[in-house]
Amino acid sequence: MKAVKIKENIYWVGGIDWNLRNFHGYMTQRGSTYNSYLIIDEKIVLIDTVKHYMYDEMLSRISDVIDPKKINYVVSNHVEMDHSGCLPRLMELIPDATLIASSPGEKGLKAHYGKQWNFKTVKTGDKINIGTRELSFIMEQMVHWPDNMATYSEKDALVFSNDAFGQHIASSERIDTEYPLDILIEEAKKYYANIVLPYGSQVQNVLEALKPFKINMIAPSHGIIWTKHIPEILNEYVKWAGNKTEEKCTIVYDTMWESTEKIAYAVRDAFENKNISCRIYNLKLTHISDIMTDIITSKYICLGSPTLNNNILPTVSAFLTYLRGLAPRNRTALAFGSFGWGGQSIGIIENTFKEMGLNLLGGVKTQYIPDKQKLKQITDEIQKQIGGNHG
Ligand code: FEO
Repeated sequence: MKAVKIKENIYWVGGIDWNLRNFHGYMTQRGSTYNSYLIIDEKIVLIDTVKHYMYDEMLSRISDVIDPKKINYVVSNHVEMDHSGCLPRLMELIPDATLIASSPGEKGLKAHYGKQWNFKTVKTGDKINIGTRELSFIMEQMVHWPDNMATYSEKDALVFSNDAFGQHIASSERIDTEYPLDILIEEAKKYYANIVLPYGSQVQNVLEALKPFKINMIAPSHGIIWTKHIPEILNEYVKWAGNKTEEKCTIVYDTMWESTEKIAYAVRDAFENKNISCRIYNLKLTHISDIMTDIITSKYICLGSPTLNNNILPTVSAFLTYLRGLAPRNRTALAFGSFGWGGQSIGIIENTFKEMGLNLLGGVKTQYIPDKQKLKQITDEIQKQIGGNHG
């Protein structure tokens, strides 16, 4: 298999996981890549490896450029196994190579693989000379694990950003100018929403830390490499990391006998009457990771469940657990649902929203089947609550 030249003496040598459809619970309908990069200088450097089952593909691409045994340094920007999974086999091949990682990275790699490799730990500002280049390191704690870091080559104005700026896309194209920008941004958004969202302040730190560097290429550890569209992805990251939302509403629900579904559409009417754009998702039909892509920029989150056994439906519970973990901030939330005799679902959803620190609109709770008059009343009441300058 071929290596792909991305700069003079720098190659992409990763693996393309065409059929990946589930990345620890995140639906990856476009597959993904695990990006390794090979730098040919007086010293030979490999930045990250790939998932364990793509070892042969990575090695074949490295061999397209150089004998893999000539690698002097392996930089592990991140311990997670999609990037470190090939280290045990690779380090057997190059036992004298130096393995560069952050201090939590060294700890994590030892805990994962139990090996005493030739570690060198680095922190922000540390540099290594590899001949005509100096590589420097920027810690990216919690973007996505405590060990994450980026590696920067000043000579190439290139940052190997690891998980930051990644997207789950399997493609033959490697560079952003070769791939449709709208899909690229949408996948970067989905990736951020499902993986990076809880770490907004840490992302802001990284964006700040990158400011002094001249950068004309961002090479992440998944998906497409950013060149021409660096300003666009940086703008989006600033927005997402700051939890900046748009006047949009995402309505999510599950339903037993379509009463809660009827309320969902009455809720939709209220927002649309105020000229606020809506998306509606039935949890039986759409995966929670896809819904998160809309949540990330929605000012309003509305969640509906009927009451079942004094509780909420399991699908709604799963979504709420996922949403809570991803911790969106600065949102306004609304709980709604129908009930027969208990009616606990609204309170359960609202309590979680309160614990998440979201602003609440008054919840909507109807017994049995809401008729047209009741639905109109729901729409009117929510419309009043939205208030403000809308419509
Ligand atoms: Fe792509 Fe956090 O690993």
